[in-house]
Amino acid sequence: MTPDLVGGLESPDYASHDRAAHEPYAPVFTGEVRRELDELLTHYPTKMAALLPALWIVQRERGWVSEEGMVEVADLLELTPAYVKGVVTFYTMYHQHPVGRYFIQVCTTSPCGICGAEDVLKAFVRHTNTGDLGLTSPDGRFTVIEVECLGACGFATPVMINEEFIESVTPEKVPDILARLA
Ligand code: FES
Repeated sequence: MTPDLVGGLESPDYASHDRAAHEPYAPVFTGEVRRELDELLTHYPTKMAALLPALWIVQRERGWVSEEGMVEVADLLELTPAYVKGVVTFYTMYHQHPVGRYFIQVCTTSPCGICGAEDVLKAFVRHTNTGDLGLTSPDGRFTVIEVECLGACGFATPVMINEEFIESVTPEKVPDILARLA
């Protein structure tokens, strides 16, 4: 894994996700990653309690959580695949398909909407060359989505790029924000 650093925090490794999406499934939890899970399990009273961090490990390693990844986690934690899928689909932080190296979330809920969030969203789509929401740019770098309230309604428009939180984004600021992403 080659960690990507945005905002000083370790982000999922998206480098080879597109290729991985079309290859035969290879288990995530082998070698060092399996040892990491085993150590993780010592911190929880039950295997089920470790479901969220286990899924996060899958996403960190593969860039997203595939159906096969859900089954692997279910087997290891002695859960049903349906239960694991229910959790994955509940939390928007888990990607159910490959995404760009930079996953951009723009709040467009009403308080931000009346402050121009739609224009910010359009600026990200235009300047990332993704073409539309949810699609990944041809260079594999960007995916842009709109999300519900990010909890910073007084700082419209808030945007999350991987783990970095950016407040008061305007369409004019978008090119500079993207330019500093290596
Ligand atoms: S409505 Fe946009 S952050 Fe709350």
